Amino acid sequence: MDFKLEIASAIAAAANLDKNEVYLNIETPPDKKMGDYAFPCFRLAKTLRKAPPLIAQEISSKIEKPDFISEIKVQSAYLNFFTDKSVFAEKVISKVIAEKENYGRSTEGNGKTVVIDYSSPNIAKPFHVGHLRSTVIGNSLYKIYEFMGYKCVGINHLGDWGTQFGKLISAYKRWGSKEAVEKDGISELMRIYVKFHEEAEKEPSLNDEARAWFKKMQDGDKEALSLWKWFHDMSMKEFNRIYDVLGVKFDAFTGESFYNDKMAAVVDELKEKKLLKKSNGAEIVDLEEADMPPCLIIRSDGGTLYATRDIAAAFYRKKTYNFDKCLYVTAVDQNLHFAQWFKVIEKMGYPWSKDLVHVPFGLVSLPDGKLSTRRGKVVLMEELLKEAVNKTRNIIEDKNPELPDKEKVARQVGIGAVIFDDLYNGRIKDVVFSWDKMLNFEGETGPYVQYTNARACSILRKAENINFENIDYTSLTDGASVDVCRLLDIFSDKVCDAASKYEPSIVSRYLVDLSQAFNKFYHDNPILSAEKEVCKARLAVVKSVSTVIKAGLSLLGIQAPEQM
Ligand code: ARG
Repeated sequence: MDFKLEIASAIAAAANLDKNEVYLNIETPPDKKMGDYAFPCFRLAKTLRKAPPLIAQEISSKIEKPDFISEIKVQSAYLNFFTDKSVFAEKVISKVIAEKENYGRSTEGNGKTVVIDYSSPNIAKPFHVGHLRSTVIGNSLYKIYEFMGYKCVGINHLGDWGTQFGKLISAYKRWGSKEAVEKDGISELMRIYVKFHEEAEKEPSLNDEARAWFKKMQDGDKEALSLWKWFHDMSMKEFNRIYDVLGVKFDAFTGESFYNDKMAAVVDELKEKKLLKKSNGAEIVDLEEADMPPCLIIRSDGGTLYATRDIAAAFYRKKTYNFDKCLYVTAVDQNLHFAQWFKVIEKMGYPWSKDLVHVPFGLVSLPDGKLSTRRGKVVLMEELLKEAVNKTRNIIEDKNPELPDKEKVARQVGIGAVIFDDLYNGRIKDVVFSWDKMLNFEGETGPYVQYTNARACSILRKAENINFENIDYTSLTDGASVDVCRLLDIFSDKVCDAASKYEPSIVSRYLVDLSQAFNKFYHDNPILSAEKEVCKARLAVVKSVSTVIKAGLSLLGIQAPEQM
């Protein structure tokens, strides 16, 4: 049973209102003095032409009290509903126990498709901590939307096309060797790429050479393409290693190069619709009326651009997946880029341009300034993940050397710590990378949440012959138990909220709250030593918390070891 819905029906009937409308306005007050659910009457003042407190009074005198509600209080403009604690506990706990890992799922997205473009690093460059955010935020949104019934398509729009590959080929021909690249992979490519930029400062004609190589790539030249493909495959090998460790998957790796033969059609259509304009030899779409600089479609040397490929990709995705929404998870510094080309699609007359959503996130920097691949100022992802696992391994050796499957747990917890730390930040907040913070396992962290679940699992292991039938819920009316039930009750609301705001931190913060509430419950209430019926009811709480923590962590892309 959905309490909120029941309350909404009762209010709607008493006041002759639309049930769904009422439902959307019901709040769960953070201060329990205000009840478990509250209905504010401010909005009704206008239509009913009465003061909000009076409206609250009138509804309360007419409302039929649902049986799980012990009291309805009018407090100024609010109707506050207090649930009968044991009925409330029963409704929540029995639902979690019955639905197991499906508790919290919804059907809201059934029949709808969301395409999510995330991670999307540029190839031939090292995968560093700057790439972590897009990767884990996108992966989490994927899982959150899937949990809500949407069909999700995860796309890695690799940056694998553009003049930088002309530069790389030219650098390789001048200063590279097969042996060195085979030996050192991306870091060798990076070395010659940096050298290219240094040399081109002195000898600008190198840039023409690079452009010529890129032109060859576009025209299908064998040598250019086979070098490019070699760099591509090598990068993918390194990236896939990291995705494996992170447990991140994609449904398609259709990068920028995939659109090489799909851009001409876009350009033709723009021409046909008279949206292209010449400007200093380049072709642009003017966006002055939208107060934006023009969107560059074709460079003066005939080359296409990042935006041209994004436009072609959007058409391809619409045709291939017929999405209801297409999300782009990239840093906030690409705001203008997305705003511009979304506008171009709108100007082309496609109403689905409104379904394209840029999901920006704050920038990652190092304590001494911006990350910079070219200047070698980066923290490599592989190094970070290795460090996190090493540190966890050491803690396990120190605190729990007998733990079975130590290596596996070290990976689950170490990687979990890194992902959780990233997802605990509000998406839009800039972050300064810090080894200490990333690898801190105390307080509001992934390991803390994982540990709470492991503790719950350990209690369940110790309990004998648990069965969750005919539970007496009257022992779950103390403050700590009620707090846990209240949190369990709002899990699916939190998930929906995270989806509509594209904000996985709503889930991570919720999990910390739930863990804290559970730890208080565990501290206040003896479980295994309690009288039989009480023990059974409390074990049901333990089981429910473990179920929801596991589900919540999985929405963040984090594992939940049963022992640690
Ligand atoms: N490769 C780009 C970068 O590293 C991100 C691509 C994001 N996706 C997109 N469709 N533009 O900044």
